[in-house]
Amino acid sequence: MQNLPKLEVKLSNTGVQDADVLAVYQDQAGKNKKPIPPRGVYGDVVERFGKASADGAAFSGAHGSVQYIRFGGKGGAQNLLLAGFGAASELTLEKLRVAGGNAWTKLKAEKDRSVVVEADAFIQVKGLSSDLTHSAMVRAFAEGLLLGAYEFTKHKSGKAKEGSKAPTKFTFVTKEKGLVAQLARELPKVEAAAEAMRVARDWSNEPSNIGTPEYFAGEAKKFARKYGLKCRVLSERECAREKMGLFLGVGQGAEREGCVVVLEYAPKGVSKKNLKTLALVGKGITFDTGGISIKPSANMENMKHDMTGASTVMGAILLAAAWKVPNRVIAVMGFTENMPDGNAIQPGNVLVSRAGKTVEVNNTDAEGRLILADILDYAQDMKPDAVIDVATLTGAVSIALGKLCCGVMGNDDLLVENLRRAADANGERIWQLPLWDEYFDDLKSETADMRNVGSDSYGGTIRGAAFLKQFIRKGVPWAHMDIASMAAGISHLSYYPKKGASGAFVRTLARFAADF
Ligand code: BES
Ligand code: MN
Ligand code: ZN
Repeated sequence: MQNLPKLEVKLSNTGVQDADVLAVYQDQAGKNKKPIPPRGVYGDVVERFGKASADGAAFSGAHGSVQYIRFGGKGGAQNLLLAGFGAASELTLEKLRVAGGNAWTKLKAEKDRSVVVEADAFIQVKGLSSDLTHSAMVRAFAEGLLLGAYEFTKHKSGKAKEGSKAPTKFTFVTKEKGLVAQLARELPKVEAAAEAMRVARDWSNEPSNIGTPEYFAGEAKKFARKYGLKCRVLSERECAREKMGLFLGVGQGAEREGCVVVLEYAPKGVSKKNLKTLALVGKGITFDTGGISIKPSANMENMKHDMTGASTVMGAILLAAAWKVPNRVIAVMGFTENMPDGNAIQPGNVLVSRAGKTVEVNNTDAEGRLILADILDYAQDMKPDAVIDVATLTGAVSIALGKLCCGVMGNDDLLVENLRRAADANGERIWQLPLWDEYFDDLKSETADMRNVGSDSYGGTIRGAAFLKQFIRKGVPWAHMDIASMAAGISHLSYYPKKGASGAFVRTLARFAADF
């Protein structure tokens, strides 16, 4: 496994490095868009590439584009990477992350190891939006670099297991003393985000013969020790004592035992009286075959990602702890497999939930809502001030919204709004769907208190939420994030892996926990 690159900040650039990264804005006046040459050493180089672009070639400074120039050993840097930032007036923090991700891809392809980033070039331009402070810009670009760096090579053999030859260190160089002090404080927070997202991505990518419920419980214990969290693992026996009939029903067809993992982060030095508690609840189906309502075989391997709700919640609580957020955070993750077997639940079976409500399981493939119902109930015993559950719950969310955002539903508009704000701050998108009471009409059962699916496939994502809502107690603010659309294979952002787990919403949830 490759280590994530380190970030540092310095007042002046000393020593030789493999490459120097220079932000270049685009001049949009006139027909041929061209790069704006920066003041200082590389001004003439950019000027030259701008001329070429006026002839329709080379580099115009367009957002996300890169131009690599080999100096062959002359000067302080061996090579120069021009990173296109586009028009100053159109730049956003998210565009900076994307530019960082693109820069990473090029630097890796060139096998550069030590890299300097000219931080002052970020602001050598007029017309930037006022929320783009110098340090926020650097942080966003750095985030793009580090998130782009992720690789999952654990199960390769030989050289490939070590990961790519790629940058190991980024040195941000600035002449502003104040910025040096500020970034020295803030860059470790960016590294912490990349580290927490690495855990979330690794968990999600883990094949289900390794990534079993027992494995994740063991990993959770290790990380709990490292990050100073309390950790408790409920075995199936303990779940039975807790009367988690829905959770256990889903795992009934599996040989491997399921478990519920509970983590707790409590900030130091905040008086108990003022302490607010956020409960994060994650779906951790380590593999979803569909059970007796079995899925078609095409692409079924992607169902190893069906524990991404749990991995997201895990990443979020680790990041909240690393950031030392001022609120208490609890993570409840339900891990089990959904397997068909002689002992598996059958369509039409009735199960009794922890909350006492009975459920007719018409479709064993709608298993996520079953396990969540029980662990949501368990989480509410801890008297949280808000509950957010995160789950790869329905294929329907991708039909409704595509793969650019997740779906969110809940019983408290302010909670949803604050969640959206936290997401926006990280370039992550969530989109609210309605949750009118009538959606539950489709889930009424002849035999039990409710069914786990409707009689047709309309509004599948909302019905999932309508089911969960039956298990939310009066007065508890709750939001449900259906992340099935965003868990893996997010190809439109340069800093997410094109294939495999994205790590989306780890930063959003940690940010939410901080501001809550
Ligand atoms: N884990 C799936 C949802 C899913 C589908 C996640 C595709 C990622 C990609 C979930 O357990 C499921 O099977 N949902 C069913 C619900 C249906 C039976 C009401 C679905 O979406 O088909
Ligand atoms: Mn399923
Ligand atoms: Zn599932």
